[in-house]
Formats: sequence, structure tokens, C-alpha cells
Amino acid sequence: MASIVLFGPPGAGKGTQAAIIMAETGLPQVSTGDMLRAALGQGSSLGLEAKSFMEAGKLVPDSIIIGLIKNRLQENDASNGVLLDGFPRTVAQAEALMEIEEVEVVLSIEVPDERIIERICGRYSCPQCGAVYHDSFNPTTSEDTCDNCSHHGMKRRADDNEETVTSRLETYHSQTRPLADWYSQRGLFQAVDGDRNIESVGESLLKVLSELRGE
Ligand code: AP5
Repeated sequence: MASIVLFGPPGAGKGTQAAIIMAETGLPQVSTGDMLRAALGQGSSLGLEAKSFMEAGKLVPDSIIIGLIKNRLQENDASNGVLLDGFPRTVAQAEALMEIEEVEVVLSIEVPDERIIERICGRYSCPQCGAVYHDSFNPTTSEDTCDNCSHHGMKRRADDNEETVTSRLETYHSQTRPLADWYSQRGLFQAVDGDRNIESVGESLLKVLSELRGE
């Protein structure tokens, strides 16, 4: 089976929608951002190498990311395809992916830049299960307690500040957005309007998938 790529600017809702698509398809989510943060948390050499790039809102070098993904896709749970979140982000990464994995579709969540800062600066998540929340748009029911796993104590990401977001957006437009044309030329790019509430965006993404699969 082939993999699905979730594409879009930082804060577009890739992680949020990944939860909805995983529930529907059963595909495991593979987020390069989460993998890098885990490596950083463990203090591994890979994490330390990635740290300065992440803090500056720059892309971690392709060689590191491609190695990470190649290893991850060899794991047992990836044998029927995965849901890629935040990868590929450069043409070199997309070319490397093409060599190792079939891509069913690239689902792009389109959100204008002016919305991104408010989304990212209000984000928090559960350190135990990874559920993602927002101060205004998607708050936990009870303050500081995860709705999904009841863990107490939420966390905020070090790179979720206005300065880094501006740099992440510049990086997105210069290095990642060109992939929209790259995948369009291969008939794999499908865009949905991400400037709507979470449920509506999720419905649109699932509709694209079911139409594609003739369901
Ligand atoms: P990564 O972790 O991938 O960050 P990102 O792409 O910047 O994406 P985010 O995780 O910030 O956002 P998201 O789209 O998942 O949005 P979310 O669902 O959380 O990467 C971090 C760094 O790692 C990069 O800067 C880079 O340095 C490095 N890196 C990672 N992958 C790499 C790669 N392949 N190559 C090189 N370097 C790499 O939603 C955001 C907020 O909005 C949440 O609070 C959510 O509740 C809210 N929200 C979501 N949807 C909606 C909606 N429809 N309406 C209102 N609010 C919403």
C-alpha cells in the first residue's frame, strides 16, 4: 500500500488532521518534527545536530532527515504505508522518498500566512499522548488536563514564538512550497482550504481520500 503526505505551512493543522486521518485509515503517523524533538529530548547526537536549525526556524539538512525516514519506513508498522507529516520539505527529500515509497496523494492544507502566527502562538500539547490543543480554537475541556488521556500538565514548543514562526514561514515559501508544483506535475497534489474549523477541514480531506479511492 502507498503512503499519504500531509503538506502545508507550519501551523496549518497537519498534526491535528493527522489524528483524524489516522482514525479513518489506520495508517501510522510519521512526523519528522516529532522524531527530531524526541531525539533532542533524549540528548542524542542527532538531536543536538538538529537543535540549532530547529530553533532558528531553518530546515535540518536533507542527509539527516532522509536517513531518519529511511530507517523509520523499514519498521514493521510501516509496511502498509504511513501518514507522512512534515516530510518531504525539499525537492531532494521528495526525490529520495520516491525511491523508497509509493505516494498515494499529497494532501495540502492551505492556510494564509496571517492566520499562522495566531495558530502557532496559541498551541499547546499533551506530553504523554501528543494530542494538540489551542488556547482559543481548540482548548482542553479542563485546564491543563488532556481530554484524550487525562494526563495533567500541558507543554508548549520552544520554537512556537513569533520570531521563529516568521523564519519558519520564510523557509516554507522558499524551500518547501515549490513541492506543490513538483507533485502537481506528477498528478499527486490535492489542496483543501485549511482556513476553516478543524472538523470542516477534516471532512474535506477525508472526502478527497474517499473520492480518490473510489469509495
Ligand atoms: P514540525 O514539527 O514539522 O513543525 P511545522 O511544519 O512547522 O508544523 P507544526 O507542527 O508547527 O504545525 P502543524 O501543521 O502540525 O499544525 P498543528 O496541527 O499543530 O517541524 C519543526 C522543525 O523541525 C522545523 O522547523 C525544522 O527545523 C525541523 N524539520 C521537521 N521536519 C523536517 C524536514 N522534513 N526537513 C527538514 N527539517 C525538518 O496546529 C497548529 C495549531 O493550530 C494547534 O494549536 C491547533 O490546535 C490549531 N489548529 C489546527 N487546525 C486548526 C483549524 N482548522 N482552525 C483553528 N485552529 C487550528
